[in-house]
Amino acid sequence: MTTQQDAAVEVTFQGLTFTVQPRGGGPPLELLKGLSGAVRSGRCLAIMGASGAGKTTLLDVLAGHDYSGTVGGKVLVNGRPRRLKAFLRISSYVQQRDVLMAAATVREAITTAALLKLPRAMPATEKRARVDGVLADMELEGCQHTLIGDELQNMKGISGGQRRRVSVGIELVKQPQVLFLDEPTSGLDSEMAVSMMETLLRLARGGRSVCLSIHQPNSIITGMFDDFMLLVGGRAAYAGPWSGAVDLFASAGFPCPQYRNPTDHFLSVLRDAEATDAVVACQTAAAPALVELPSMDDGEGKPGGKGKEADEEAGLAGVAHNKGGALEVGGSRAWSAHAAGDAAPAAVEAERPRVPFAFQTAVLSVRMLRNWGRNPMMLAAEAVQYLFLALFVGLVYLQLSDSVETGVPDRLSSLWFVLAILSFTPSYTAMVSWDSERLLVRRETGQGMYRPAAWFAAKTLTLLPVSVAQTTTFAVITYWMVGYAADAGRFFVYVALLNMFQLTSETLGLLCALCTSRSTYAVILLTFVLLVLMTFTGFLVTAIPPYFGWIKWASYLNYTYAAMVNNEFKGVTFYSAADVVVPGADLVPSAVNNGLGVLANGMAALGLMVATRLTAFLVLLIMHRLKKI
Ligand SMILES: Nc1ncnc2c1ncn2[C@@H]1O[C@H](COP(=O)(O)OP(=O)(O)O)[C@@H](O)[C@H]1O
Ligand SMILES: [Mg+2]
Repeated sequence: MTTQQDAAVEVTFQGLTFTVQPRGGGPPLELLKGLSGAVRSGRCLAIMGASGAGKTTLLDVLAGHDYSGTVGGKVLVNGRPRRLKAFLRISSYVQQRDVLMAAATVREAITTAALLKLPRAMPATEKRARVDGVLADMELEGCQHTLIGDELQNMKGISGGQRRRVSVGIELVKQPQVLFLDEPTSGLDSEMAVSMMETLLRLARGGRSVCLSIHQPNSIITGMFDDFMLLVGGRAAYAGPWSGAVDLFASAGFPCPQYRNPTDHFLSVLRDAEATDAVVACQTAAAPALVELPSMDDGEGKPGGKGKEADEEAGLAGVAHNKGGALEVGGSRAWSAHAAGDAAPAAVEAERPRVPFAFQTAVLSVRMLRNWGRNPMMLAAEAVQYLFLALFVGLVYLQLSDSVETGVPDRLSSLWFVLAILSFTPSYTAMVSWDSERLLVRRETGQGMYRPAAWFAAKTLTLLPVSVAQTTTFAVITYWMVGYAADAGRFFVYVALLNMFQLTSETLGLLCALCTSRSTYAVILLTFVLLVLMTFTGFLVTAIPPYFGWIKWASYLNYTYAAMVNNEFKGVTFYSAADVVVPGADLVPSAVNNGLGVLANGMAALGLMVATRLTAFLVLLIMHRLKKI
């Protein structure tokens, strides 16, 4: 893959601070304390530090990832204040955790990314060439047709190292000029870690700017670093070319013993607070020379990087300086006002790929269908579940009589039982399904790979036929085994009511899952909601207390049950023990009869189905907006 030299992008940061307000109250926490450095084109910056030193935080801030805190200081792109939207188009951030769809092959995963991230207008052959290029770059050609898999799902797949490469590959399809990676080698054995580093270094040499955090690198890996940043408690113990790190520690009074991996030495020195202060002081004193901020400083007439205070002063005063003919205004507030648009390099203004909504939906639908195709057992298990439950109900209430004494109460309870099954089964399935997709949807929609609405549309489109098939099978078996009124019209009403009911339950499950941050809460919420709605159908309690009376009117169970009971009883006759003929309509309990006919109740159920679906959609959009998916 090639990157034009003129598209080179350098990211520099000065006096970068990051402050969060702790949840439990108390003073604000400064997680990054005035960091300065540069991610250069064609080079690889490695950020190291003990766990909790702030590596991920720094990457989040540099990559412009969502964070909840206050950023201070400057981030500059090619010497100009970073404009986040444009920057996100030319940069990629590979987070530490691989979130991949298990049931896709390596090639499919990268192709999906290409289809969604590259402009729709790009010819298919070109997209395919991109995918081939990425597979070659990431050395994934050998396993391109292997399933990604997931150990947790007991699905065999590619190795951990290959998973990391797929995660990087997915980001590479858009050919980012800047690549951020959070611990790309963690969890890999040393050989795979070295080979991953080699790959990343090759990408850097191809003209990209690579910035990665790293934990416990071995000496082969440290030998590949171009630039190095050592963090300790949010401060920089070192920032500059890798070659200067050992000298800095030596000049601070901590020479690296011979035959020792310098990074081990650094970390062991930094374990001591006093030694840390000494190194940081030494680094701060040497900073301008080491950080060596590039050309952007030339215009200011000051050599090298500046301390935090100097930078803030410049920022607050809105100092204007000239660089390459374009007027620049310093200071975070004034950034958006500068005139970068016309003078910025082409790369920074790269066109955002425009993939139409319908295309996004189609790509996602194909992926969802493929997911089912690859997990036939999942689909089969669900089908068997509905089949067994239908047979169970059928056998329990097999061929009900038309006697007033037994046939009537058993009809009422069997219909109620059918609804109980169709409220819990689909809703729990929907909840579990969301749980398995949540992280993937979060990552992908967070990156703007597709709109949440496209995911929702694809989900609806692919799930609908399956749901209808399942429910209709369930309805046919239960209807004829139980022996409800042998009448085509009534049968079709029953099928339609059950289908609407099942879809509402499914949506309710999704809704509860969307409203909660984890599945444990979702189960609690869903169970509570269903039990409450179920209580007030007129079957479990006849004299509903007035303060709960309103629930009945909000319950899709109430409308569906009333419609089903009326559909079954009205216009049919039953016989009492003394052979007295009783019209079915007289046998509908008044608590069940809500005063609406079959049609009106059906319409109400339909309305609630649509309303629930819309609510779930809105909640998805809101959660996406709030970054809470
Ligand atoms: N939102 C937050 N609120 C409070 N503390 C945080 C928050 N995010 C990170 N931290 C803390 O900041 C420090 C740096 O975290 P992180 O950047 O994840 O470290 P690293 O990636 O180097 O292991 C840790 O001590 C962590 O507990
Ligand atoms: Mg981290």
